[in-house]
Amino acid sequence: MADVSTEVAGIKLRNPTMLASGFLDETGGTLLRVFKAGAGAVVTKSIGPEPRAGYDNPTIVELEGGMLNSMGLPNPGIEAFGSEAKIALDGGAVVVGSVFGKDPDEYAAVAKTLAGYGVHGIELNLSCPHAKGLGTEIAQIPEAVREFTAAVKAKVGVPVMPKLSPNVSNIADFAQAAEDGGADAVVAINTLRAMAIAPELRMPILANKYGGLSGPAIRPVGVRCVYEIHEAVDVPIVGVGGVETGRDALEYIMAGASAVQIGTALATRGLSVFADVTAEIAAFLEAQKVKHLADLVGAAHG
Ligand code: DHB
Repeated sequence: MADVSTEVAGIKLRNPTMLASGFLDETGGTLLRVFKAGAGAVVTKSIGPEPRAGYDNPTIVELEGGMLNSMGLPNPGIEAFGSEAKIALDGGAVVVGSVFGKDPDEYAAVAKTLAGYGVHGIELNLSCPHAKGLGTEIAQIPEAVREFTAAVKAKVGVPVMPKLSPNVSNIADFAQAAEDGGADAVVAINTLRAMAIAPELRMPILANKYGGLSGPAIRPVGVRCVYEIHEAVDVPIVGVGGVETGRDALEYIMAGASAVQIGTALATRGLSVFADVTAEIAAFLEAQKVKHLADLVGAAHG
């Protein structure tokens, strides 16, 4: 069988599929279940310094090409999350802890505690497209991306990977800023800032009005962003946005990603999506007589 294993900044993955932050990832039990279903690694819900309830309903709108959501970063807070992280880690899962906060010190403190719980890497949610004062502004200023990344890097020993926003005119500048701040990898992309309106009600559907668009509709945007980032920096890239099949994952990999994250496709393909996408990639490698998936990373670049 073809070798589908990969590596992201020293984190070894048995296959290139990872659970994207925001799905089945607030408890150790669900994180472990996803890992056991075949994910190469799992990313936690973004964890902040204190518990947060999130926004009122409606928080999710189902659309033709994907999903629009505005949860409001609900999470149990860093202290309570310790027992959840332990369940997933004790069960053998490869866990990347996602972090948010209001300033570099908060990000660094939460990341340090998460790293102390034993997670294998830290993802920085610098790019939630709608939570006021938390992330939106950071994702729009390259210097802030550099500063927040550097603050976290100074406090943790595990690999740090900022998750970048597509809601900017040149995402490569932000990848460069992350690299300048010491990032070990970058994750691209977070959701696209979007809105849905109910004509009968004459108002936006989401209680928060604005949300983040995910799913197949955003895949070409994500692939383009990963392609541009690959041309701009040397750090590994984790691709995310609309991956449902092995071919989708291969698009990201050939654009330059070493691994891909999957979230919205859980709703369409179920928990087997990680094993299915991995099998589809392996079948492609065999048909093309490619021995190692790693040989295809960035293959679409001339
Ligand atoms: C939320 C956070 C995100 O980073 C995102 O892309 C979408 C939604 C949230 O918790 O509301």
